[in-house]
Amino acid sequence: MIPVLTIDGPSGVGKGTVASVIANNLNWHILDSGAIYRSLALAVTIKNISLDNLDKLLELSSELDLRFETNNKTKHLNIYLDNVEVSAQLRTEKIAAIASKLAMIGPLRDSLLIRQKKFKMLPGLVADGRDMGTVVFSDAPFKVFLTANVEERAKRRLKQLHEQGITGNISQTLDEVKKRDERDVSRKHSPLKPAKDALIIDTSDLDINEVIAKVMALVKA
Ligand code: DC
Repeated sequence: MIPVLTIDGPSGVGKGTVASVIANNLNWHILDSGAIYRSLALAVTIKNISLDNLDKLLELSSELDLRFETNNKTKHLNIYLDNVEVSAQLRTEKIAAIASKLAMIGPLRDSLLIRQKKFKMLPGLVADGRDMGTVVFSDAPFKVFLTANVEERAKRRLKQLHEQGITGNISQTLDEVKKRDERDVSRKHSPLKPAKDALIIDTSDLDINEVIAKVMALVKA
């Protein structure tokens, strides 16, 4: 049996950081499923494909040439699309917004399922996203759902953007996070929600080390 830890939650909650520290601690593989949706969004933008053209979107998704590599020194995840390193381009809010629109399309989500499931390899997998515990790895033994109030998440998101040299202000970021929440929660296909058997952690008043400690305790137990 290959153990899987799923970490789901809304944008800006800190899933990515928690997932990468834990994968590192446990020496497990990591799946940043949001990066797959973002890469598809970037490819759609580059190729100028309409979000209404389902056939073209499905074709693009099946041909998507994506590679994830963890930098051994920094432990950062580098993402290559068509052999070009695109990690920084994927982080913009423009790409995130297109990703969340693509993520509403059921057949497109289905077409990405096998690609995501392939990440499940020994000795284990940490998978972060919106539907890891509810759909993609619904039989995972360890499931966590991270939440935080929207103002706190907008603050975290803005800090992250600033660290990456991307400009933005709090009211615009708050607005973008709210819009993305609305789409991710209310969509028909695989909406953002905790799995019935997930441990829900409200991280509003916790620092990152406290969140990591809680998740590690779940896996160790
Ligand atoms: O986690 P993220 O911000 O990189 O995700 C970008 C968008 O991709 C998010 O707004 C919704 C979509 N997404 C999804 O629908 N399902 C996932 N498992 C991961 C991301």
